[in-house]
Amino acid sequence: MQLNSKAVKMQLTLLAILLTGCCADIFMTNPKGSNNRLNENTNNRANGARLFDSQNNNKGGYNVGERGVEANNEDHTQQYQMEYYGSGPGREDKSHLVVEWAHQHGCGDNPKVRCNNVIQYMCMNQGSDQDYPAGNEESEEEGKKRANYMRDGTSTERQVHIQGLGRLDKSDEEYLARVAKAHAAITAEKGLQESFLWYDMCKYREANAGLFRADQTIEGDRKSNFDGKKYASSRKTRQNPGGARSGFECPEERDYYPYWQPTLQGPYDPKLQRTPWIDVAYLGETDNCDDIIKNSFNRHNKHRCVLVGARDYGKSITEEGCQAEGGKWVEFESYLEVLENVNSKEECKQFDAETKSSSVVWRPLRSDSDVERCIVKAPTPACQKAATTRNNHLGNVPDSPLHSTRFHMQLPYFPSGETKRCVLRVRYNITTGDYDPRNTFADVNGDSSPVTNDPTISLLKGEPLDVTLAINTAQFGRTFQDRSHIFKILPRSDDMAGKHLHNLNVRGQRGNIVQNFPSVEYDFVPDVLRMNSGDLVHIQWAGYNTNPAGRAGEGTDATDRSNFVLMAGDLDTSYPDIIDKAEFWKNVKSLTAPDASPKDIAVSLASAGYYCGHNAHKTCPAELSLSGNTREVLQGQLNNANASYSGHVLTVSGSGKYFYMCTRNNNFTNRSQKGTIIVVEKEDSS
Ligand SMILES: *[C@@H]1O[C@H](CO)[C@@H](O)[C@H](O)[C@H]1NC(C)=O
Ligand SMILES: *[C@@H]1O[C@H](CO)[C@@H](O)[C@H](O)[C@H]1NC(C)=O
Ligand SMILES: *[C@@H]1O[C@H](CO)[C@@H](O)[C@H](O)[C@H]1NC(C)=O
Ligand SMILES: *[C@@H]1O[C@H](CO)[C@@H](O)[C@H](O)[C@H]1NC(C)=O
Repeated sequence: MQLNSKAVKMQLTLLAILLTGCCADIFMTNPKGSNNRLNENTNNRANGARLFDSQNNNKGGYNVGERGVEANNEDHTQQYQMEYYGSGPGREDKSHLVVEWAHQHGCGDNPKVRCNNVIQYMCMNQGSDQDYPAGNEESEEEGKKRANYMRDGTSTERQVHIQGLGRLDKSDEEYLARVAKAHAAITAEKGLQESFLWYDMCKYREANAGLFRADQTIEGDRKSNFDGKKYASSRKTRQNPGGARSGFECPEERDYYPYWQPTLQGPYDPKLQRTPWIDVAYLGETDNCDDIIKNSFNRHNKHRCVLVGARDYGKSITEEGCQAEGGKWVEFESYLEVLENVNSKEECKQFDAETKSSSVVWRPLRSDSDVERCIVKAPTPACQKAATTRNNHLGNVPDSPLHSTRFHMQLPYFPSGETKRCVLRVRYNITTGDYDPRNTFADVNGDSSPVTNDPTISLLKGEPLDVTLAINTAQFGRTFQDRSHIFKILPRSDDMAGKHLHNLNVRGQRGNIVQNFPSVEYDFVPDVLRMNSGDLVHIQWAGYNTNPAGRAGEGTDATDRSNFVLMAGDLDTSYPDIIDKAEFWKNVKSLTAPDASPKDIAVSLASAGYYCGHNAHKTCPAELSLSGNTREVLQGQLNNANASYSGHVLTVSGSGKYFYMCTRNNNFTNRSQKGTIIVVEKEDSS
């Protein structure tokens, strides 16, 4: 029988498309990765292009945290954003956050794949309630706010981007009119991470023509204002040749790291202080660490083409091109923040002397300005070997104890003392060894590409033994991504100075392992926490009331609840300890409620905050305490307690090994939510 090879090829392509939609991926478990979910109570996320391009399975991800007892999808003030205390200025006051994820195709010493992970975050000032965008007022200021302020939003729709007439803004008037229109189209209810301007710049900027694109053709989509020539913009890449848009993410920046342009989101705004993407860690092969660190924007200034006029961003990514375009090749500083009320070099130097985690410098923000400012730089990113993981498996790394892939991140220190809102992203980048991924460039694009789409290979010369490979050159070399919801970084209180702070959180969501997959069931992160006597631990969790109906779990359907209760026996037992008996409570003090007694703290953590303490104290009115309670009593499965709880920051003294559990979710043979805290005297740990 004669096979119609075209039909076969089409079927294979279809199959390839179906398969790629199926099960690749990276899923972040702490902070909880959204995978573009917001608050939908369906198994699949509603919109895979809401904020960023994850390339992940539609079923993954966690919803945004919720404050109360019931789903409240319409009101952003009822969302719960995790509140981490940042690091302090000194060498000892470090705040630790375990970033945890699992990815599907292997990494580290796995010989089947070459890979790297990149961890980054982006922050801005939290500001006041008035700074949170609302409504659709057309004033310039409101429009800018909606186009800039990072938020989870309450709608799963993607923001709209309005492009130029005929794809060009010929004059300042045209540009300004379009931006006004574009701002008016951006709504307060939709989520936003990158800014509108960031994407607009991306769309104007030319794609890097030196990159390896295999046999993918990337059509020009723009016409240059100055020479009328067609060019492809950086919204198009080998992985995204059609230029599909996800939120306001720039596809080229997404696919490549370190990126060659400054990732600043627009002109410096003294009030919002929006940072570029700050590099935390590169985990991969370590032989290129020097290059990675040298090219991290944290440390290495980057240039972009600045034009005169209302639209100040040009198309060129080289100095020569920029000059030809009539622009200036301007160097930009990356910053964690700019200390607006520091007005002299001397004062700025003082901050530099006090800040041990990074440097604070007195410099202009860009090379075409001579206004010097006090700039807080980000620390040098970590560059380490990636952990080894298996293919086709969202499992643990071989470590003791076993746990998912993790990076121990130190949260930043912001000398301004401002509360920040931030988002964290982890990318997972895999390539094959069919070409040298780091040294293959545009000269082998097209016909000389070392790889082609679904090639048919003849296994015996001259005989009809042909096999067809499943190769998609848009995904041969591919980046996956997950991002957190918005979280806050709070300044430390004075009594946290000089102390290590460990974050202890809950991962997972309602449902059994099958209903949840590729997300996970409840557990504490880190499940084993080692700390020194005198260190701080911040116990906090975010849950929601918007799980899909009917998922296995305890208490009210569709809801998450957690609590923290010491156990009576070892980790393999199931009963909690009586509060008055548990040793742990004798050794703790709360820094977030300094006049709370150990009993107050124990009662509040056991009741997920339903009772703010045993007795009334400063942060706990009598009627919300256990002894003075005037409401119904706490329901035994925590149904009437809130889904999220900001908890306490505790100092733990002495030494000991403590086992704790969540009384609601722990359900032997079905679910386990228990953890260990090991406290050692400082001397012992050295
Ligand atoms: C529980 O949530 C409600 C509704 O958001 C809020 O008013 C209340 O303060 C929360 N209680 C605690 C203990 O956080
Ligand atoms: C992914 O790897 C390729 C090949 O090494 C590299 O060119 C690209 O910049 C990497 N992208 C990311 C996001 O790490
Ligand atoms: C424990 O889990 C199983 C399976 O999800 C469930 O059927 C059972 O009701 C749970 N027990 C309680 C007390 O909720
Ligand atoms: C665990 O789940 C099974 C079935 O899902 C159920 O029969 C059993 O009672 C559950 N265990 C507990 C403690 O509820």
